[in-house]
Amino acid sequence: MTACHFSANIGTEIEDSVYGRRKQSMIRLEDISVKAVNGDSEIDILDNISVSFEEGKFYCITGPNGGGKTTFAKVIMGIIKPSSGKLYFNEKDITESDITERAKLGIGYAFQYPPKFKGLRVRDILKIAAGANGDMEHINRSLTNLGLNPEEYLDREIDGSLSGGEMKRIEIASVLLKQPNVIIFDEPEAGVDLWSFDELINVIKENHNKNGGITIVISHQERLLSTADEIVVICNGGVQKIGPAHKILPQIKSDICCKFRDVCRGDEDAECDR
Ligand SMILES: Nc1ncnc2c1ncn2[C@@H]1O[C@H](COP(=O)(O)OP(=O)(O)OP(=O)(O)O)[C@@H](O)[C@H]1O
Ligand SMILES: [Mg+2]
Repeated sequence: MTACHFSANIGTEIEDSVYGRRKQSMIRLEDISVKAVNGDSEIDILDNISVSFEEGKFYCITGPNGGGKTTFAKVIMGIIKPSSGKLYFNEKDITESDITERAKLGIGYAFQYPPKFKGLRVRDILKIAAGANGDMEHINRSLTNLGLNPEEYLDREIDGSLSGGEMKRIEIASVLLKQPNVIIFDEPEAGVDLWSFDELINVIKENHNKNGGITIVISHQERLLSTADEIVVICNGGVQKIGPAHKILPQIKSDICCKFRDVCRGDEDAECDR
């Protein structure tokens, strides 16, 4: 498998409460690899990824199933520890920081498959997410914005009785309530019906426009990808392409993961053997 090295800058401005001004923060991955044992052999799930992204932009990550997108997101959130490489937030090495420490720094992740919490109600999860600033009006609005009636859902248990789409919406509401500086949505559209999809895009976009920061959405949906500032294509555990949506989208529509990639190594000037 060939790893690709691309660079842009992912950054955000966060409120500096001490100095009363805004300052820039960054996420930068340097030579990140994730290995796993599969039977008798070791496999590379992420292979030497070096990527950093530009200040304040809205990113979409896409690529074929099994390419490594969720693993990439979980490495940023601290759910998966890389086997090698470094991760920097604001140029501070956070490779060894755990999920709690990263959440405190303002990194948030909405799972592709939200976990169930038997015994906890929607109200409990949203109150925890909203923290000290979260009054019920704010919490109710977060559900309404995602098309869920608070009266119907606040007392529901987060167990198998919620539908897949309902779980996704509640998960997204809870991550938005945390108001992270760096927010990653893993396939937010999964399980959400077509009628609600535009609304979902609006909520995510509005959050980005209002709060700024880094928004990274993992998605296969062209309608979402076309709204991104930048698209990152993750394929075979590497970053295959990164660039402005208007340049990358036409390319990935025809060819997400070329089987001759190992020959040309992704070099734009290389002869194409297809
Ligand atoms: N612990 C593990 N052991 C072995 N293989 C793993 C492990 N974790 C992930 N993988 C494999 O790594 C690859 C990348 O998984 P990942 O979930 O990151 O893909 P993805 O790009 O998010 O795919 P999708 O679009 O289907 O969500 C997959 O082939 C997956 O089966
Ligand atoms: Mg995934």
